[in-house]
Amino acid sequence: MPKFSIALLPGDGIGREVTPAAFELAVEAAERSGSTLESTSYDWGTDYYFANGRMMPPDALELLSRHDAILLGAVGHPDVPDNITLNGLLLPIRRAFDQYANVRPAILYEGVESPLKNFRSGDIDMIVVRENTEGEYAQIGGFVHERHAHELAIQTAVFTHHGVERIIRYAFELARKRDSKRLVTSITKSNAQGFSMVLWDRVFREVAEQYPDIQTESLLVDAAAMNFIRRPNSFDVVVASNLFGDILSDISAIITGSIGLAASANIDPSHTFPSMFEPVHGSAPDIVGKGVANPLAAVLSAAMMLDHLGLAEASRQLDSAIRLLLAQARVRTADLGGLSSTDDVVAELKRLLH
Ligand code: NAD
Ligand code: IPM
Ligand code: MN
Repeated sequence: MPKFSIALLPGDGIGREVTPAAFELAVEAAERSGSTLESTSYDWGTDYYFANGRMMPPDALELLSRHDAILLGAVGHPDVPDNITLNGLLLPIRRAFDQYANVRPAILYEGVESPLKNFRSGDIDMIVVRENTEGEYAQIGGFVHERHAHELAIQTAVFTHHGVERIIRYAFELARKRDSKRLVTSITKSNAQGFSMVLWDRVFREVAEQYPDIQTESLLVDAAAMNFIRRPNSFDVVVASNLFGDILSDISAIITGSIGLAASANIDPSHTFPSMFEPVHGSAPDIVGKGVANPLAAVLSAAMMLDHLGLAEASRQLDSAIRLLLAQARVRTADLGGLSSTDDVVAELKRLLH
């Protein structure tokens, strides 16, 4: 029986409420198709920070590197600045494990209502592919004259030809595999950002030439934000820089019903390092402890993990159970207009999986 070793990182807030359940469901789906998932849970995050003054131990990356994949909940706590928590855990993992492709599907499932009045189930099915290791998140910069009236802050965005090329190529390969609209839309702001985004546009055109079977479109990010609302049905694969992809994937999440349904994968396509799977949403301090968090984004992320591990059938089964649950429109959390608890949804999914 094939065995996989998974690092569980529930993290903070509702991450702790949805991650163990998502893993359990992944275990069941894997078992049914003849594979075993073993887990080690790491209790890193803001509580660990309160006790130890850091978000994870010095050998954290070494420990994580031994696993086949990482399933993460969320990171962030109202009592600690976000730049400390996120730069202490989530962002260093994405970079250290060269998880350069952040893949964020947005599907308007049957039984789910979009806040956009003209779009019905089946109308929206797109994937935001976000560059995940450089760009605006490169974390190069610093302060000068700190806390003086003339303080200066510099934050440098880093766009390498290598980094831009590989993420654009990933998007084209994905469009080919999906075999849906066979369209890649590239997002920049090259009318204002005259270096980095000009490089991006040029590399996009170069790579596109190698994929004559795939249609292309280039949009400025402001127009893209508008078009995600105006014509979300026209998108297939959307490729964007780290920050633009971050922002656009919250839009693609809400137009497909809820951020509680938005899954994501931080992929190292070379499989050199473990890839990491996590919902798009954060730790949601406003609902933590109430038992009402939608676990489906985490479960869909776990399904993406199964697929990445080569367990396509298990992934498909988990995905089907979720689609069935949503289509039945009976058991659902408040973000989707329901009254059910996190546990109710997990229990119903288990039933549907059997
Ligand atoms: P958030 O995603 O945590 O919450 C935004 C809104 O969506 C809230 O009203 C929340 O209740 C709701 N929501 C989110 N997930 C939900 C779910 N599964 N079910 C039902 N409702 C859900 O974003 P935020 O409030 O901007 O951030 C809170 C904290 O999380 C911050 O510290 C932020 O930095 C962090 N954050 C972390 C990650 C991550 O770890 N990947 C992602 C985003 C934000
Ligand atoms: C996400 C989050 C993170 C990001 C934050 C918490 C650093 O918003 O995964 O979308 O911007 O990447
Ligand atoms: Mn985000």
